[in-house]
Amino acid sequence: MEFQQSDLLKSLPKQFFASLVQKVGRYTEQGADVINLGQGNPDQPTPGHIVDKLKETAENPLNHKYSPFRGMRSFKEAAAEFYKREYGVHLDPEDEIAILFGGKAGLVEIPQCLLNPGETILVPDPGYPDYWSGVELARAKMVTMPLREENGFLPDYTELKKEVLSEAKLMFLNYPNNPTGAIADENFFDNTIRLAKENEICVVHDFAYGAIGFDGKHPYSFLQAEGAKDVGIEIYTLSKTYNMAGWRVGFAAGNKSVIAAINLLQDHMYVSLFGAVQEAAAEALLGSQQCVSELNALYESRRNVLVEGLKNIGWNITAPKGSFFAWLKVPETFTSVEFADFLLDKAHIAVAPGVGFGEFGEGYVRVGLLTSEDRLREAVSRIESLGIFKKHIDNDL
Ligand SMILES: Cc1ncc(COP(=O)(O)O)c(C=O)c1O
Repeated sequence: MEFQQSDLLKSLPKQFFASLVQKVGRYTEQGADVINLGQGNPDQPTPGHIVDKLKETAENPLNHKYSPFRGMRSFKEAAAEFYKREYGVHLDPEDEIAILFGGKAGLVEIPQCLLNPGETILVPDPGYPDYWSGVELARAKMVTMPLREENGFLPDYTELKKEVLSEAKLMFLNYPNNPTGAIADENFFDNTIRLAKENEICVVHDFAYGAIGFDGKHPYSFLQAEGAKDVGIEIYTLSKTYNMAGWRVGFAAGNKSVIAAINLLQDHMYVSLFGAVQEAAAEALLGSQQCVSELNALYESRRNVLVEGLKNIGWNITAPKGSFFAWLKVPETFTSVEFADFLLDKAHIAVAPGVGFGEFGEGYVRVGLLTSEDRLREAVSRIESLGIFKKHIDNDL
């Protein structure tokens, strides 16, 4: 028998990047040396002291039982301590923190926690496609907020119509931003909080790249802004900060009523994470943070290699200020899909076409800084040999 999928499943957004992954796979199977800059999977291992903690705590029979439904107190205390140390933000471990199976789980759950079918969610465009999945699973209505280069890839709230603002129940934001590499300042968060208060909108700030800021800037947490906890939450994941993407661990922090809603949904869906993962995650948050500084320096150095290399061959691009992505404007004669195909076919370089992140991503491609400097240099030289960019010659003479 073949069973039909539910209407809900059928309504889920198609995975835009699946065809790119397949195409890269075909080239690789044929033996091509593809430089894959299209994905967002950290390339470095989890720091040793965190793995050691997992090994040690995996032996404890207490961790072989069901863990507390709402997560271990010690992990929530570690998360609170982390926010106090890094951002000067005070959080109550019990009421203001909910443990998550990675950031994605929280982002997808939130619309179901707070919205009834047909209610409106504001989503950045371009943006991380998993927000759309959460919107669809809640049968909510998505209204996009364009992120334009001239506004530093921040949404311009004056563009939102009054009716939309009065209907909106939830807003997703994400800085440092995937895919644009932009960062937000305090002023932007203050404006967001004002808007959210006036219109009773819950703000969900996705802080997945919170640890990755360049040029000496430590990215702002939304929770640092005054009144943030009144209007929303921040979702923090250990995936990027500590190269723990495979571990599936993160947490939501902030507004008590939202945290209670997440906990309630999760009571019905899961038992919490493996205790040893929670203990190792606490070690990550409380132990030496040298690994985080080193990782940040590694991404910054890769960014510099890529940006300087591309500028030298005549591709006039803007350097990302945070995250591990660069958002590159494609030559005007190409769409983002055509340019991504062109780079893959002619230079065996995979990049993510911007339109896959939303309509306002058209005209750009996203490049990950998740491979060595040598491979990035090799990518630059392959692009140079395509001869589509004209070298900028400094004519100071
Ligand atoms: C913007 C953004 N948010 C959230 C996530 C989810 O991360 P995780 O589910 O691994 O915590 C990612 C991962 O790529 C991301 O890019």
